[in-house]
Amino acid sequence: MINVFIDEPRVPLIFAPTPLHPAENLSKELGIDLWFKRDDLTGPGAFGGNKMRKLEFLMGEAKAKNLDYVFTYGASQSNHAMQTAAACARSGLKCVLYLVALVPPDTKALRGNMLLDTLFGAEIHVVNLEPGETEDDGFEKCYVLAAEHIKKLEAEGHGCLNVPVGGASMAGSLGFASGYLELRDQLLLLERPPFDYIYHSTGSAGTMAGLLAGRAMAGGSEAIRSVCASEKGGEYEPKVVKMANEVLVHLCQEARVQEKDFTVWREYVGPGYEIPYPESTAALKLVARREGITLDPVYSAKAFAGLLDHVKTGKIKAGEKVLFWCTGGAASLFAEPEIVGDFAD
Ligand SMILES: Cc1ncc(COP(=O)(O)O)c(C=O)c1O
Repeated sequence: MINVFIDEPRVPLIFAPTPLHPAENLSKELGIDLWFKRDDLTGPGAFGGNKMRKLEFLMGEAKAKNLDYVFTYGASQSNHAMQTAAACARSGLKCVLYLVALVPPDTKALRGNMLLDTLFGAEIHVVNLEPGETEDDGFEKCYVLAAEHIKKLEAEGHGCLNVPVGGASMAGSLGFASGYLELRDQLLLLERPPFDYIYHSTGSAGTMAGLLAGRAMAGGSEAIRSVCASEKGGEYEPKVVKMANEVLVHLCQEARVQEKDFTVWREYVGPGYEIPYPESTAALKLVARREGITLDPVYSAKAFAGLLDHVKTGKIKAGEKVLFWCTGGAASLFAEPEIVGDFAD
C-alpha cells in the first residue's frame, strides 16, 4: 500500500509504518491536539531514529553498486553515525566512521552512541580539535583523512560509499519523501484530517528536504516547521530547496519546492550544538513525565522547546492539530554529562 512507486534500490531496515499516536496528557495541558510520529522506533534495534529511513536507500545504493565499505561523518555522539553502523551490520557492509570530538570522549569508558558504534562493529576514527579549531575545521580534517583512506581501499580493489554528514543526499532524502507518504496513508486509514503543523528537529536538512518533497508530491497542506539543532547560516534554505527538488526531479514529479514553502526556526539552538539549556532540558523532562517518551538532548528536546514556545507565544493556537515527528536520538541520554544536561530534580 505504502510507497510503492518509490522504486529505488532499497535495503529493508525499518519497521514501518512507525507508530502515529495522540499525546493525550500533553494535549490537555497545552490546549492543542498533539500527536507523535515515532521514528525513534524505526529499529532495527532499540535505538532507531530518522536516519534509518535515509539509510534504507543509501544501503540500497551501496548494494546496487556492489560496494563493500560505507564511510560517514559526525560528532563523536552522532546518532547518524550509530545508525549507519547498525544499518551496515544488517546489510553486511563494513562501516568506517570519522568522528569529530566536539566533547572529547573517554575512549576507555565509551558512552551512548560511541559505545553502540563499537558494539555494531564500526571502525572508528576520532579526530580531536586543537585549540582554536572550529567544528568545521574538525570536519575538514575528517574529509582529508577519509579521502586518503578511501583511495587506499580502492587501490586494494574495494568499493566505498561516501555518505555525507547526516546522510544528507538525494538518496537519503528519498527516505523522508517516503516517510511523508507513510504519514498521509496512516491519516487516511484513521480517517483524520491533515495536521496544521509538522514540527521536527533539523540538522543536516535531509529530513526536512524529504518531507518537503513528499508534501509537494502529495499536494499536502501542513506547515512544516523545522527547528534547528545547530546554528545555520543563510546557505541552509537554498540547500534544502536544492535537495528537495533533486528528489522531485529524480522521481519524475512536476511539483517543485521553493523557499517560501517552509520556515526554519533558528532561535532554539541555545548556546550551541550539543549544549543543553534550561528550556531544552525542561522540554525533555516534560515529554518524559507526561507521556513516558524519551526525546534526546541534542535534537528533539530543542525542537520540542520550540513547539512549547510557539504554544506560549500564540504561533500555535488553541485546538490546532500538531504533529511532533520524533526523530530518535535517545542513546545520547547516555552520553557525556555536558551533552545530557541536568534533569534530576
Ligand atoms: C535525533 C535526531 N533528530 C533530528 C536530526 C536532524 O535530521 P537531519 O540531519 O536529517 O536534518 C538528527 C540528525 O542527526 C538526529 O540525530
